[in-house]
Amino acid sequence: MPYFDKEFDKFKGSDDYVASAPLKSAVNVSIALGRPLLIRGEPGTGKTMLAHSIAEGLDKRLLVWNIKSTTKAQEGLYVYDTVQRLNDSRFGDKDISDIGQYINLGKLGESFDIDEQVVLLIDEIDKADLEFPNDLLNELDVMTFYIPETKQTIKTKHRPIMIVTSNAEKELPDAFLRRCVFHYIEFPDKEGMEEIVHVHYPDVEKNLLKEALKVFYALRNVDEFRKKPSTSELLDWLQALMLGGIPHDKISEEIPFIGTLLKKEVDHEYFNSAYSGRASDSGGNRNVRWRY
Ligand SMILES: Nc1ncnc2c1ncn2[C@@H]1O[C@H](COP(=O)(O)OP(=O)(O)O)[C@@H](O)[C@H]1O
Ligand SMILES: [Mg+2]
Repeated sequence: MPYFDKEFDKFKGSDDYVASAPLKSAVNVSIALGRPLLIRGEPGTGKTMLAHSIAEGLDKRLLVWNIKSTTKAQEGLYVYDTVQRLNDSRFGDKDISDIGQYINLGKLGESFDIDEQVVLLIDEIDKADLEFPNDLLNELDVMTFYIPETKQTIKTKHRPIMIVTSNAEKELPDAFLRRCVFHYIEFPDKEGMEEIVHVHYPDVEKNLLKEALKVFYALRNVDEFRKKPSTSELLDWLQALMLGGIPHDKISEEIPFIGTLLKKEVDHEYFNSAYSGRASDSGGNRNVRWRY
């Protein structure tokens, strides 16, 4: 990338992660601008793993804030543990007037307060309610917040490298998007997937991988599936095939260990009725006849 100077081109990838050139450049733009990088893509496209790879590649600490449906923005900044304080006031011998000891910084707060630049992963932001990203706008802009209980201002010393992941379905508010650098990770094609598999299983047998990828992509093309197998499923399946010592010519007609690939009963039922005419095998681990 001739127009990027050396300082700009910080993230070069890591040994355990396959990053495309556009992905690396999105990471570097986000670091240079000091803005969060919003990563979208279907499950299994390496969104979570990217943050690990950045931390590893740049030799920085990784803080992970896993978002759940009940997560509130405030929890990422700090939580005032009033219950502990009440307990101490009743049973303890601590000086409860020192409120600072009951203030626990959340992951976002910690990433501002810490004395080094860290990588902060805000994982699966789409799990929370719609207000969540909006509630973070100000803090993401100024990377500063005030704790009224202790009259303390937490101000970032080193802007954290922030990676925010989201699955493809849900829209995020425009005001939030405006503050991010965006990158969509496409599901890898066969060649890309081969590279990813090699990172995990460097010694995988060539023909086994070739056949497995054929079956895997054929399964991904079945539109009727509720949950298409993704990278994690492929990796598990390959491992099962290798552990089971299954030869490559035994996987194209019969799919051994299909329960590693299809995870929904309806998908097993569809697969069985559409491709084998057999009664359903909802346990999913019997061999199933299949032609692609
Ligand atoms: N580009 C990649 N390089 C190496 N491994 C990958 C890559 N993409 C996905 N994987 C592997 O696939 C699995 C799912 O990745 P993950 O980061 O959890 O996906 P997501 O967060 O997008 O659902 C992990 O085991 C990860 O190691
Ligand atoms: Mg993930």
